[in-house]
Amino acid sequence: MSKVEDLKNCVFKNPNEPIEARVKDLLSRMTLQEKLGQMTQIERVVATPSAIKDLCIGSILTSGGKGGFDKLSPSDWAVMVDEFQKSALESRLGIPLIYGIDAVHGNNFVFGATIFPHNIGLGATRDADLARRIGAATALEVRASGIHYTFAPCVAVCKDPRWGRSYESYGEDTEIVRKMTSIVSGLQGQPPQGHPGGYPYVAGRNNVIACAKHFVGDGGTQKGVNEGNTALSYEDLERTHMAPYLDCLSQGVSVVMASYSSWNGKKLHTHHFLLTEILKGKLGFKGFVSSDWKALDRLAQPHGSNYRSCISSAINAGIDMVMVPYRYKLFLEELIFLVESGEIPIARIDDAVERILRVKFTAGLFEFPLSDRSLQNLVGCKAHRDLACEAVRKSLVLLKNGKDPTKLFLPLNKNARRILVAGTHADNIGYQCGGWTASWQGSSGSITVGTTILDAVKKTVGVETEVLYQQYPSKDTIEHNEISFAIVAVGEGPYAESKGDNSELVIPFNGADIISSVADEIPTLVILISGRPLVLEPWLLEKIDALLVAWLPGTEGQGITDVIFGDHEFKGQLPVNWFKRVKQLDTVALGVDACDPLFPPGFGMRYEENL
Ligand code: GLC
Repeated sequence: MSKVEDLKNCVFKNPNEPIEARVKDLLSRMTLQEKLGQMTQIERVVATPSAIKDLCIGSILTSGGKGGFDKLSPSDWAVMVDEFQKSALESRLGIPLIYGIDAVHGNNFVFGATIFPHNIGLGATRDADLARRIGAATALEVRASGIHYTFAPCVAVCKDPRWGRSYESYGEDTEIVRKMTSIVSGLQGQPPQGHPGGYPYVAGRNNVIACAKHFVGDGGTQKGVNEGNTALSYEDLERTHMAPYLDCLSQGVSVVMASYSSWNGKKLHTHHFLLTEILKGKLGFKGFVSSDWKALDRLAQPHGSNYRSCISSAINAGIDMVMVPYRYKLFLEELIFLVESGEIPIARIDDAVERILRVKFTAGLFEFPLSDRSLQNLVGCKAHRDLACEAVRKSLVLLKNGKDPTKLFLPLNKNARRILVAGTHADNIGYQCGGWTASWQGSSGSITVGTTILDAVKKTVGVETEVLYQQYPSKDTIEHNEISFAIVAVGEGPYAESKGDNSELVIPFNGADIISSVADEIPTLVILISGRPLVLEPWLLEKIDALLVAWLPGTEGQGITDVIFGDHEFKGQLPVNWFKRVKQLDTVALGVDACDPLFPPGFGMRYEENL
């Protein structure tokens, strides 16, 4: 009989059958090669129709590299993903693949997508419902591009801002991070009452498979070194860094990604106790555990232990799907050797494949494997940009308002005669968005569709108001223009992962000099665009009339002017401790009091307090 003929009446093909029956039936029909193929995730650039079909590849991803994707339209993306999917459906059993991407603050690799504030800004809002709504909007924009799976949310609890991924964390307080895990219910949809905790859930075609990462303790490494070592008792690890995963599991998160980092000297990717005994056993996680990018290769460094032993350690520890992502032929050769030699039991393989199939069935991909083109007009739509604007407004934290309590500086006057807008970050969408935007490391300039701070000021002020703009304002500009007030936007350039590890934490691009040169002559509001607290010297703070931190707000700069010109209230509160000096960070383990912060967690001024 033809393939289609002898399969169409199988249990696994019947959507009315219970998912567990479909998983069991399909698994029983799979060859070892097909099982191992499902455990393999490859990067798009090496994905060929024959590899996908013949090797039964389980997943493809777009990494953050500058793959030129910043020019593809959502429709181009959907066509590309569907082509890969058609190859998967031509395999012997027609198992659909899942296409994954880092949609970590909107569908950030797709040109024109709405870019939401990075997680640290959302942590400043402490608004769980906002996070859920952002998740739902992000899911729509991801599915509009034909993509099924996002490597988000990052639920790291960042204990040291020197970490290059601190902005991917909702904050240093476990309870804030726990609250913001509500984004999972937005991304995947809200599970029905009584949904079993730990069991994956994806509501339908407008939702995506979500991935909680990086399990566990990625934000607690010593001195914030990325992929470093988290030295904690099990009780502290569980209480501080594991707690948000329980909230993700209770919402049916489908995937958990293992961390590159170590716990007390042992790599998470080889940690059977944490990945299997705790996550899958004690916590009852029934989705699948993904490795991180090339993590198995990195296990071989620096001692050079061979790749085969790294595969054995990781799979036996509980990794189910491996983000290879390039050398998949070698990976599969080694893996089949390890299984046939008995070093990896077939039971471990079956457990991994069951979990992967369970997620695919739950996500409805056997019934709806191809993209829904009707969603495409939602990418960057007004409703989503309005939502992003709301998020920006709520994320702003006001740190100073006036040089003395009786003389408040904000809100600004929309009808001032002449305003100077200055600074490296005043007219730069790329800087507003930060890393993981258009490309892995992000970049400067007009990298996508959005509203800069300068654009927003021009839209907000009265028709009689003149707006001057200079990144680095000249002495002449500052002194000879009778300027009513200045808005100076400075901060960090984009970065991601280890490239963002930083032990100085000073305002880059001579930001302090720009502030100083302007504030010496003109009443000045400083807007800090940054993924974390930065050093603010007392002499600088004294010069500034008002100071707010906007974190990495994304494409909707209008959210900033909505608040500084008084149309909306400040609501944001620091989700982190704002240190005075970097060396205090080595004592932060002793608690906020011990490090005498410049601004403590929870700090955030309001207009209403002064009205
Ligand atoms: C990266 C990151 C992880 C990301 C993955 C795929 O190295 O650690 O957060 O999801 O690779 O880009």
